[in-house]
Amino acid sequence: MVLTPDELALFDYGLSLEENPRSACVAAMKFIQDRRGWVDDEAMAWLAKKLDMNLSDLESVATFYSLVFRKPVGKHVILMCDSVSCWIMGCESVGDHLRRRLGIDLGQTTPDRRFTWLTIPCLGACDMAPAMMVDEILCGPLTPELIDKILDACEEADSS
Ligand code: FES
Repeated sequence: MVLTPDELALFDYGLSLEENPRSACVAAMKFIQDRRGWVDDEAMAWLAKKLDMNLSDLESVATFYSLVFRKPVGKHVILMCDSVSCWIMGCESVGDHLRRRLGIDLGQTTPDRRFTWLTIPCLGACDMAPAMMVDEILCGPLTPELIDKILDACEEADSS
């Protein structure tokens, strides 16, 4: 079962407010992700039926939106911008610091499943370049010191 009966009732209510169920496809995938951490194949097939969509069309939407996770992610998701402004302002060197600090490469999750590091196109925060989003919070301009502070805060929050 993709959703519990309570979750399904809430999902169906949300869907009933839509004139065209397909227009809710991003919100529907986020609904699952908010409860399961990511959207697996079973959930995608279920959603496609529910939204009266072709599965490959739904997959295309999921691929387009960087914030829909089709693989398991860590507790904290770090989305580092690698677009022009952030690149000019040194995202590569702060990325090197993140790589050293976490011991993983882009696209990977730490062995303790605490952090996942992904890239994202422009976050719309070019004035904060180089910028990243951690758990949907915008952070920048990034320095090695700021990255350490952010990761320390995540680790502290996890242990309290
Ligand atoms: S280029 Fe990085 S936030 Fe815009």
